[in-house]
Amino acid sequence: MLPAVAHWPTGHGGLRDTIRQEIVARQLDERITGRYPVGQRLRILDAGMGAGTQALRLARAGHTVTGLEADPELLKTARESLSTEPAGIRERVRLIEGDGRETGVHFLPGSFDVVLCHGVLMYADEPDALLAGLARMLAPGGLLSLVVRNADALAMRPGLAGDWTGALAGFESDVYQDDDGVKVRADRLESLTATLAGIAAPLDAWYGVRVFTDGVPAEAGLPAAEELERLLAAEERAGRTDPYRRVAALLHLCGVRG
Ligand SMILES: C[S@@+](CC[C@H](N)C(=O)[O-])C[C@H]1O[C@@H](n2cnc3c(N)ncnc32)[C@H](O)[C@@H]1O
Repeated sequence: MLPAVAHWPTGHGGLRDTIRQEIVARQLDERITGRYPVGQRLRILDAGMGAGTQALRLARAGHTVTGLEADPELLKTARESLSTEPAGIRERVRLIEGDGRETGVHFLPGSFDVVLCHGVLMYADEPDALLAGLARMLAPGGLLSLVVRNADALAMRPGLAGDWTGALAGFESDVYQDDDGVKVRADRLESLTATLAGIAAPLDAWYGVRVFTDGVPAEAGLPAAEELERLLAAEERAGRTDPYRRVAALLHLCGVRG
């Protein structure tokens, strides 16, 4: 079974989400194992954890995880998933209803080794302030993991679908419509690189996520296991390889707290 996909909460498990979660998981694990000794129990904050896919995965891997989520319904889903876990894992997870912009209300600066902010920046009016607050929560040498929509590739999905009007609009835009039809922000590698340098968590590594499969319909299910493995291997390779990663639908940026 694939590590991130093996324990998906109800309501998830479609192909698009599976690819995103699995590829991000592999990339994140690579950054973590590159920085910390194997077996070290890390303190991890997942800001805007949603249904908690990564939070629960990391707790299962032995880490101590705090999930912060603004939406009570998603928090409930995460709590339900957590309740089915063995006691040893449940004890390592703390779930909090709260705003990622107000981490100072809940935690002391420097209290985490890894902070995740996956799929959240697109909903932020003031992304730099959000990121600065999250970076403050990191201990020196800690890892900030960001997943954002890639504004430099917004023409790709409509273009590959033959929607030329949409493709032309994509070149000019840093806004896109999410799967629920909501217009949200997209970000550029260059500007986020500057932001991370400005908040003392300079970029250490970056990846693309969903290079080949962004056009897959939201409702598409999983292919057979072997086919899914090959698809993920191709996506993982593209996500770390130039020039492919440059036009990925999502960017995964990892900054390290100085
Ligand atoms: C697209 S989902 C991503 C969920 C999860 N991080 C993932 O990658 O699967 C965005 C999540 O961020 C949450 N969110 C957005 N803004 C937030 C904020 N300021 N504070 C806390 N959570 C927030 C939303 O409620 C939602 O659950």
